[in-house]
Parts: sequence; structure tokens; C-alpha cells
Amino acid sequence: MSEFGIKVTPYSSALGALIEGVDLAQSLSEQEFAVIRQAFQDYGVIFFRDQAITPEQHLAFARRWSPIDVNRFFKPVEGYPEIAQVLKEPDQHTNIGGDWHTDHSYDEVPAMGSMLLAREVPPRGGDTLFASMGMAYEALSPGLKAMLDGLRAVHSSAHVFGTNAPYVKSSGARLGNPEAATQHVVHPVVIRHPQTGRKTLYVNRAFTLHFEGWTPAESKPLLDYLYQHAVQPEFTCRFEWEKGSIAFWDNRATWHYALNDYHGHRRLMHRITLQGSPIAS
Ligand code: SIN
Repeated sequence: MSEFGIKVTPYSSALGALIEGVDLAQSLSEQEFAVIRQAFQDYGVIFFRDQAITPEQHLAFARRWSPIDVNRFFKPVEGYPEIAQVLKEPDQHTNIGGDWHTDHSYDEVPAMGSMLLAREVPPRGGDTLFASMGMAYEALSPGLKAMLDGLRAVHSSAHVFGTNAPYVKSSGARLGNPEAATQHVVHPVVIRHPQTGRKTLYVNRAFTLHFEGWTPAESKPLLDYLYQHAVQPEFTCRFEWEKGSIAFWDNRATWHYALNDYHGHRRLMHRITLQGSPIAS
């Protein structure tokens, strides 16, 4: 498909599209922006290559979508408090985002999307995987769908970003503000995407604790089933980064997983998270 000089090419059968023919250093017309917005809704995650943009241009593009939802745990880029640094140094072992998750599900109103720009990439490795939560939901049996449709789940940031969380200890100065990791929130297990209306699975291994009214032990077998079901290769795509690549994903429609297979090399990404709207079943 090519409209207003913009080419949108699906990236896998499940989700993702590569957007070509745009220079994000320039301001986009309303028509150009509409093509990109439609691709974001249709494919759940969109990719751009060769965007040598400044932090100001990154912020300007992000603000076209929504106000910025500043992440309170990630260290910001110096001079740019609204841009989070996603960094792994050659001597570090833990990466950020190295398990399947969706960003900010621990918030009352979770972030709509996250826009990640590659500043430095390792010679190989450090790809990011994405999975479609619409496909994951649709592939469940009618019986399980009916049960999940009536459930809600508790999400939290405390066990990940709070004081004494193992992830915080192994991440060093890259994370901070553990005292802000206090909130528990409840979301439907299956949500209706606020823009597309598509039903998507909205629990994730990183931040979901248990089903509401169920103990963690009772919840675990079913959550574990959903976590392995949702990442079948047929529901995923894998993005290989180059310097200047951007991935912009919809946190209500997808999960992502940052591969940690480039020890001894530096990987530096700039991430902007964007405010969402309330989610409901
Ligand atoms: C993240 O989970 O936001 C980071 C993803 C990545 O670094 O690929």
C-alpha cells in the first residue's frame, strides 16, 4: 500500500508493519500522519528505518499521538526528562525488558504506546520480539474465552521496580524511584481495544499478580497457560535493530520481549511512553 508517498508493508502474518517514505525529522502533514495512525491501529506495532532524529524531533513526533506518560522508574536521558534511557553496558548482564510484557499495565490508565529509538546497537543480537494479544485471545476455545471474559486481574509494579526487587538490584543505576512502586491496580483480563474494538488478552508475566478473588497459587496454572499460549511463534514477529530504527508499539494490543543475547556490547535506546485512555472489557 502506498499513500502520500508512504509505503506500509506488513512485517509478519501476525502483527507489525514497516513504514517507508517518511522522514520523521520533518513535520508530517495531517494526511501523512493519518496513514501512519491507521497502520498503527491495523498492525499493533510499526517500524521505521534510518531516522537520524534529535531528541527534540523524537519528542515532537511522539506528541503528535498523545501527551507523554513519563516512566517514573527508568533513568531519563540527560537533559530530556520525558525520554527514558533503555541501556545495557558491555559489563552488565541484566537487560531492560527481557521477558514478555506490556508497558505500564501496573497503572490505572496504562500507557497507550511506547516509541523506542535505537541510538547504539550491538554488532548482532538485541532484537525485540512482539506478540499479538488479539490473535492470542482469538485462538482460545469458546469455553476459555467465556471464562476469561468475566475475570479481572491485579497488576503491580512493586515486585519489579520496588525496594528490594531483584530486578532493581541487578539493574543498578538504570532504575530508580523504588518508593513510587506502590500501586496495585485491577484490569479486565480481556479488554476491548479503545480504538479498534478488537478484544485482546490483557495479562502479562511481568506485572500481573493474580486473578481478582483468586489466590496467586490458584491463578498461576491458568496464567502460565495463557503466557505460553500467547507467544506461539505464529502470533509473533521479530525486529532486528539498526542505528536510527524506531519501533512504536501499542501496549493494549501487543506484548514485547527484548532479547538479551549481546553480552560484552553496548545497546542504547531512547524510549518515550505515551498516555493512554481508560481500558475496559
Ligand atoms: C522495553 O521493554 O521497553 C525495551 C524493549 C527493548 O529494549 O527492545
